[in-house]
Amino acid sequence: MQEAQETLHRLQESIGRISNLPTPPMVFEQINRVINNPKTSAYEIAAIISEDPALSVKVLKLSNSAFYGLRQEVTSIKQAIVIMGIEAVRSLVLSTAVFDMFRKSGFDPEFQERFWRHSLATAFSSRLIVRKMPGSRITEAELAFSVGLLHDIGQLVLFSHMPTEFALVKAYREVNEDTPLHIAEQQALGYTHADVGALLALKWKLPGELQDAIQHHHLPQLSEQKYPHAYVVHVANYLAHLTIDNTMTREQADRQLSEEALTITGIAHDQIPAFREVLLAEYSKAETFVQMATSP
Ligand SMILES: [Fe+2]
Ligand SMILES: [Fe+2]
Repeated sequence: MQEAQETLHRLQESIGRISNLPTPPMVFEQINRVINNPKTSAYEIAAIISEDPALSVKVLKLSNSAFYGLRQEVTSIKQAIVIMGIEAVRSLVLSTAVFDMFRKSGFDPEFQERFWRHSLATAFSSRLIVRKMPGSRITEAELAFSVGLLHDIGQLVLFSHMPTEFALVKAYREVNEDTPLHIAEQQALGYTHADVGALLALKWKLPGELQDAIQHHHLPQLSEQKYPHAYVVHVANYLAHLTIDNTMTREQADRQLSEEALTITGIAHDQIPAFREVLLAEYSKAETFVQMATSP
């Protein structure tokens, strides 16, 4: 127990020492604060987004993209909020903010593309799962999108800002080829990308449920939150690996899947092919997101 605390403390120290760790733009913090207040109007949110012209352009571009399939053209931020809903706009603002922060660090395009494809696929898949869960609300579906998008953000931090630790994990995996990434990290470093991601979420003052789900996406049974976001993202991550990014074999993915997570999200084994089909269709419309994440 004490050893675990010491490791966590060391991790907090190393994260604290990274001076150029991306920080979310002011506008994201403001939006989060305003959206968390139930009395907020679309007008107030539109006013905040409109103060950032680059962000406004991106929100409009995404809301008019094939992904949303809206029949009428969205020409103002306020209209985007009215048509798509406050929570969907928050997902958009979060996606654009996160893409921007990390794109600036200019690293390996191949890693970057693979990373964003997996993150977006997990985001879409998380939202899909929540929408099919009986009694779920729109707010939960959009929070699930954010969880999916950010669940592996710790991998990006390790890759871009912690080269020594990244190299240690890589060396460990060269010798232990079949070890899942999070277990290799635990062995080589004493913590995982899920811990790093949760600390970043804490630093960014993201909602508690989001931090918790990032922290527990590999072992959702450790989450103590009422709404099962950690279970949702766990299954979404599995579906994304199987369907979109092919970074794992079916066997490897199956071995990491928690049966309990399937039960909690209400997905029977024979429903998995249908989920994969919907995910594939939805994802293929999302090219604008991928371009935004990877183009200079
Ligand atoms: Fe992960
Ligand atoms: Fe993942």
